Amino acid sequence: MTETIQDLQQEHARYITDLGDWKRTSSCCELTASDVGKDVCLMGWVQFRRDHGGLIFVDLRDRMGLTQVVFSPDIAPEAHKSAVILRLEYVIAIKGRVRLRPEGMTNPNLKTGEIEVVVHEWKLLNTSKTPPFVIEDRCEAGENLRLQYRYLDLRRPCMQKNFVLRHKIMQAVRRSLDEQGFYEVETPFLTKSTPEGARDFLVPSRLNQGSFYALPQSPQLFKQLLMVSGFEKYFQIVRCFRDEDLRADRQPEFTQIDMELSFVNEEDVMNVAEKLMVKLFHDVMGRDLPTPFPRMTWDEAMRDYGVDKPDTRFGMKLVELTDAVRGSGFKLFASAAMVKAIKVDGGESLTRKEIDAFTEFVRIYGAQGLAWIKIKSETEWQSPIAKFLSDEERKAIKERLDAKVGDILFFQAGEPDMVNAALGNLRVHIAEKLGLIDHDKFNFLWVVEFPLFEYDKEEHRYVACHHPFTSPMPGHLELMTTDPAHAKARAYDMVLNGNEVGGGSIRIHSAHTQMKMFEALGFTPERAEEQFGFLFHALEFGAPPHGGLAFGLDRLVMLLAGCQSIRDVIAFPKTQKATCLMTQAPNRVSGAQLRELGLKLREPAEKPAKAPEQAKEQ
Ligand code: AMO
Repeated sequence: MTETIQDLQQEHARYITDLGDWKRTSSCCELTASDVGKDVCLMGWVQFRRDHGGLIFVDLRDRMGLTQVVFSPDIAPEAHKSAVILRLEYVIAIKGRVRLRPEGMTNPNLKTGEIEVVVHEWKLLNTSKTPPFVIEDRCEAGENLRLQYRYLDLRRPCMQKNFVLRHKIMQAVRRSLDEQGFYEVETPFLTKSTPEGARDFLVPSRLNQGSFYALPQSPQLFKQLLMVSGFEKYFQIVRCFRDEDLRADRQPEFTQIDMELSFVNEEDVMNVAEKLMVKLFHDVMGRDLPTPFPRMTWDEAMRDYGVDKPDTRFGMKLVELTDAVRGSGFKLFASAAMVKAIKVDGGESLTRKEIDAFTEFVRIYGAQGLAWIKIKSETEWQSPIAKFLSDEERKAIKERLDAKVGDILFFQAGEPDMVNAALGNLRVHIAEKLGLIDHDKFNFLWVVEFPLFEYDKEEHRYVACHHPFTSPMPGHLELMTTDPAHAKARAYDMVLNGNEVGGGSIRIHSAHTQMKMFEALGFTPERAEEQFGFLFHALEFGAPPHGGLAFGLDRLVMLLAGCQSIRDVIAFPKTQKATCLMTQAPNRVSGAQLRELGLKLREPAEKPAKAPEQAKEQ
């Protein structure tokens, strides 16, 4: 009869004991040749077990690393005999003596690779079912299975490394901001739902039936109120909640390093934020960042990179050709509101298949197609469009793009928003595909002078580009109503390697200007008062000039850890569908709970609790 590991585990469970008076003396990453002869006590998980020449070898793992422990029938027959029960991920404590590994058996890849611990006695602290995937850095399991068993996924050393980094970053942030005179203050999670911004997560109130709290999208208004309270320098490492569509760099709950300062201008806030980054990189990464970080206006970013978060680790800037091809024989160029191009040095060798894939890529951004020219020789331009271009147009294209034999040029024509988005994102996509990015670089920059508003085509109105508490630039107050499209904001974003890692602004601190802003956003005075009355009233009681910024902690950790998704640096993240595969949240609740809250679902609520999404690999 074959016994399953589950049967064995049940059988072995009889031997589980407590620690008793055993005390751990060393971690599993500590002992070296200089410890030979020492008696030690180690505790951890069985990473690997092999039987060899009458000996049982176990790689014992704790959060620090691995140590090889040996059960020998000659040295400790009882311990050796009972060690046959050991299986993967069993939890044990061993007492034994450190000795050198025999000649030729050392492992130079392991910190403890010169030694092993010969076990004298050991205790079984717990058994384990066979894990659904191996607890190693290299893991073949899909993300859904890893998320379902997140507690096991987090045992993998590469994941633990991410969280050690996250911890160190959080400690460095606290040290830096404390040194810079900030107070850490907590703000409520149960707050008022206000319009403008992403969708709120709502929490029904039992004591005030029919009313709802909202989970904060950020502590924006509370931190401004703390400035009215005279705190002058506030920070918080705080959870924020946004019910928006998720991506690799977005989670419904995420963490900000949030700060606000009084009596400051843009430069002051940016200096504090740069100091924080310098400290963090020095303490955590052992790197010295050059300051001040480069500044780029939003107009320049859109002109040269097509996006408001440029990746400056490589060139391939966008080049405007609108005027040069006005009236061109190529009809698409002749009348387009904007024509821009990028050049890929030596890209002439790209295949038709690769070019087709790039054409598919730009469709995501609303492009109908992607025009291209391969510069085969001084005179030969291989392209579906070259024959429509006049000599003069060719000359202008060649000069403006500095095109040389062997290059390929990609063109986009149409509305500026589409042209910039398509080419700006294609630029990054091509650089990634062709390996043009130096992944050892950390290129910081500030994007400044953002537009105050952006036009919401669905709502047919202007909405705040940053948020409605952002101050217009000096001289732009009137533009809020006369020419909103050209009003600029005292806002700034910190960009790292093409990612927005932080954003902030100097705020409106006069109640009168704040009311004008809401008018510009289409609020009646009554509605503005109803939604934001508490802010207006506070601003009327001597609010100091103030401004601030918030970093996305998860994004920052992701970039420093070299991960592709923020899910890898959040202990218990949600899926793209905002579900938790481990706890099965969100879940249905009982009719009694709903009644208590005065709520009734439109469809029957009494179905049994149902899993929102099953792990596919199961
Ligand atoms: P903002 O909305 O720009 O500003 O957010 C600040 C930073 O938070 C990060 N971030 C996110 N990270 C993960 N998942 C998300 N869903 C998500 N959304 C934003 C980004 C972003 O730069 N109160 C203002 C700040 C201020 O004005 O001081 C705010 O929240 O890295």
